[in-house]
Amino acid sequence: MSTPYGPDEIAALQEKAKRHLWLHFTRMSSYADADVPVIVRGEGAYVYDQHGKRYLDGLAGLFVSQIGHGRTEVAEAGARQASQLAYFPLWSYAHPQAVALADRLAGLAPGDLNRVFFTTSGSEAVEAAWKLAKQYFRTIGEPSRYKVLSRSIAYHGTSMGALAITGLPGIKEPFEPLPPGGVRVPNTNFYRAPEFVANDITAFGAWAAGEIEQAILREGPESVAAVFLEPLQNSGGCFPPPPGYFALVREICDRYGVLLVSDEVICAFGRLGHYFGSDRYGYQPDIITFAKGVTSGYSPLGGMLVSDRLMEPFAGGTATFLHGVTFAGHPVSCAVAMANLDVFEKEDLLGNVRANEGTFRSTLEKLSDLPIVGDVRGDGYFYGIELVKDKATRLTFDDDESERLLRGFLSHALFDAGLVCRADDRGDPVIQLSPPLICTQQHFDEMEQILRAVLTEAWARI
Ligand SMILES: Cc1ncc(COP(=O)(O)O)c(C=O)c1O
Repeated sequence: MSTPYGPDEIAALQEKAKRHLWLHFTRMSSYADADVPVIVRGEGAYVYDQHGKRYLDGLAGLFVSQIGHGRTEVAEAGARQASQLAYFPLWSYAHPQAVALADRLAGLAPGDLNRVFFTTSGSEAVEAAWKLAKQYFRTIGEPSRYKVLSRSIAYHGTSMGALAITGLPGIKEPFEPLPPGGVRVPNTNFYRAPEFVANDITAFGAWAAGEIEQAILREGPESVAAVFLEPLQNSGGCFPPPPGYFALVREICDRYGVLLVSDEVICAFGRLGHYFGSDRYGYQPDIITFAKGVTSGYSPLGGMLVSDRLMEPFAGGTATFLHGVTFAGHPVSCAVAMANLDVFEKEDLLGNVRANEGTFRSTLEKLSDLPIVGDVRGDGYFYGIELVKDKATRLTFDDDESERLLRGFLSHALFDAGLVCRADDRGDPVIQLSPPLICTQQHFDEMEQILRAVLTEAWARI
């Protein structure tokens, strides 16, 4: 495929990118002597760089592009809305697209989650959920509840409140002190389960859920507002919940009057073959936070879905949830989300994920014959591959090795080989895959072949 960029334009883009653009979570020095990768267009499951080179988008951008790239019907829905009403705030006013989308999401969400509070991003959604939990408890006469439990290594966003909930010490430390109240509990990494439950996944789940109860008791139930959990934990490399885990967590939350927040910024909108991850694993949250896939990235949008019970104290008199942001529920984003959900329905994308997730898993599991592959785990279209130095003992790489392996080699090598995915060492080193929901066997095979070649070379370099 030809590129619209000639050599002079490419050089100018590089020069300006290096001079003026600040990339997120990126060591800018790594581009001092190398080109900044510039992605110029996308089509289906593929994106193309400034040179016209094609890449399989094995991460859906950043867990976002559920319907794939280049869907003109979704882009046109946004353009139509911008012509009709580009912007109006949700501060005291409504607009038809926000109403329609709130109604549609309430219909899709589990149980009594009937109220939608829009934001523009996932961090803002998490922030809003914590603020709602705090104000809700004040409003109902339990003002001492402000703490939030979340799992170690879990990522819940980067704004100060969301960062306080995030369980990654490395990205928190420069910003301390953070808002007080973030408390960590164990995650559900069964591959690295404590020895006494290492052979029994159900016992492991009961232990991990029990640790939530212990933390609530330790902190004092009267001080705990909420537990924030992803249906399937992303950071650390795709930890599915053990059988029975969420049923126990739900019981524990009910026992101590604590809210269960399902952070579905990644797991909602088909990633696990259902509109919501809580549906897949059969539990009822009090709040769901969402973003990313709700628009498949054609315009930014996030939000939280809230139960009738949580809304109730705000429904009468002078009570007001004292929170809002200018662009939340932007008309263009809401129109785009509606068009995105139309594509989900027309093309039965949930059905596609459910029909193909088994072969996605088995295709990735073929990589288990490589000495560097310790574990392949996940559900739906969301997988992590944990890399190890010694398969038999599950020995992981030390910091230096991880640095050389992931940053020094794998990230670039996978991209150069034509695969967008994520090599991450925020927990143990993992490669993560989260392709668009339109993907089928041909894409799984392509991922497997690229990973096999690059991981084989990585092993030879260790
Ligand atoms: C579970 C979870 N919560 C919150 C966030 C933050 O979302 P955003 O980057 O849109 O602020 C993310 C981002 O990946 C996430 O995975």
